[in-house]
Amino acid sequence: MAITRPKGTNDLLPPGSPKLSPVTSAAAHIWLTETARRVLERAGAQRIDTPVFEEAELVKRGVGDSTDIVRKEMFTVYYFGDHGGFILRPEGTAAIVRAYLQNGLKQLPTPLKLWTSGPIFRAENVQKGRYRQFHQVDYEVLGSADPLVDAEAIALMVDVVRELGLKEVRVKLGSIGDPADREAYNAYLRELFTAHLDRLSDDSKDRLTRNPMRILDSKSEGDQDLIAELSVKPMLDFLGDEARAHFEAVQGYLKDWGVPYDLDPSIVRGLDYYRRTAWELHHEGVGAKSALGGGGRYDGLAEILGGQATPGIGWAFGVERLLLALEAEGVELPQTEGPLLYVVALDEANVPHAAKIAIDARAVARTEFAYRAMKPGSAFKDAERRGVRWIALLGSQEIENGTLSLKNLQSGEQRVIGVSELAAFLEAEKQTSNFSHNPQPTPHNPTPQESP
Ligand code: HAM
Repeated sequence: MAITRPKGTNDLLPPGSPKLSPVTSAAAHIWLTETARRVLERAGAQRIDTPVFEEAELVKRGVGDSTDIVRKEMFTVYYFGDHGGFILRPEGTAAIVRAYLQNGLKQLPTPLKLWTSGPIFRAENVQKGRYRQFHQVDYEVLGSADPLVDAEAIALMVDVVRELGLKEVRVKLGSIGDPADREAYNAYLRELFTAHLDRLSDDSKDRLTRNPMRILDSKSEGDQDLIAELSVKPMLDFLGDEARAHFEAVQGYLKDWGVPYDLDPSIVRGLDYYRRTAWELHHEGVGAKSALGGGGRYDGLAEILGGQATPGIGWAFGVERLLLALEAEGVELPQTEGPLLYVVALDEANVPHAAKIAIDARAVARTEFAYRAMKPGSAFKDAERRGVRWIALLGSQEIENGTLSLKNLQSGEQRVIGVSELAAFLEAEKQTSNFSHNPQPTPHNPTPQESP
């Protein structure tokens, strides 16, 4: 039997592929990441990249022992003779903080804004918008505890989705307080749920001892019914004075700047490192429980990882979920354009000559050539399938004269130019069309085929 890709992963495919969808379009991924890069770098963020695997200890300590990610969803990597424990990264934040500490990035101007993108791995139950390998765009700010940084981070996240063309996005904003506030809240939850122990799922019984707040995030219906019946008080009711003042300051900035948000008094994020500001971005089209992205402040994380205290805040988007949301809103992604020029020899002997002209022309614009001689009829058909703008048919006559006979496949216009004029011709054409060296994304294909 033919070997297929692992469940919960996607192949990212070129334009025209039969199984193309927004989620599986390589060009759509490039376009999305490029759009995010533009917005983030405009705000002063700089690129950072960390390995896709890290010490297990980093993930366990960073993300937290009580989280589903650490308890159920880690991909562990072994190799012959290893010491038994690397993890494919299930998120980017802990690794970025590690890299900040390890590489002395504290010496760079503060606050330091970093961004990254790439594959993330979680062994989850696979469904639409939930994969085992997915991609994130991640933004982190290190070195400042100022609520102004929180508000800016949230505003930037909203800027990215706007720049992508998404409209129906809601920011759900809350605070999970300082550690002492959370202890008080956990004590309240422990008491409340202990009285109903028999109704809790096994996972949540375990959470009750480790981190009762995690019960609120439970995927079990029984747990969620109980939570609704008990009218559990939200975390926000337990904020101490400092966390409350911080949260109010963040909201003040957002209101001043006209960044819309909904208050979510009982937000629980799926990672343990958060404190104070926490938020998620939701979209109707991706399903009520599926966030497009989420983030929060994590001032204690650097110390948990064994480093010097360093305040931090950040967020991450799920790239596939953004693409699903764009599809749900019917947002057209920019069209992929084919080559600006396609050079086809009419005789086998002239193929290398056509190749040389095309290869030289690449200094200016996207140019391809046919590897076989073709008759004009098949050359035009072939060029159309490739989305070519200008075709040059090369016969012995043209080669002798040093000319090219060009035809524009969209307008039908015909031109004869000297080979020496080709670079200038392509340069001018590039200005009038949107041709560039960068691949452009494909339009949305309405038949998504991505795996679960
Ligand atoms: P997170 O909420 O775990 O946060 O993940 C961020 C986003 O990744 C989610 O909102 C979702 O769009 C996407 N995502 C998560 N799991 C999956 C999955 N199985 N399949 C597809 N998409 C998924 C973090 O990862 C934090 N590191 C964010 C952060 C940065 N906080 C501070 N700085």
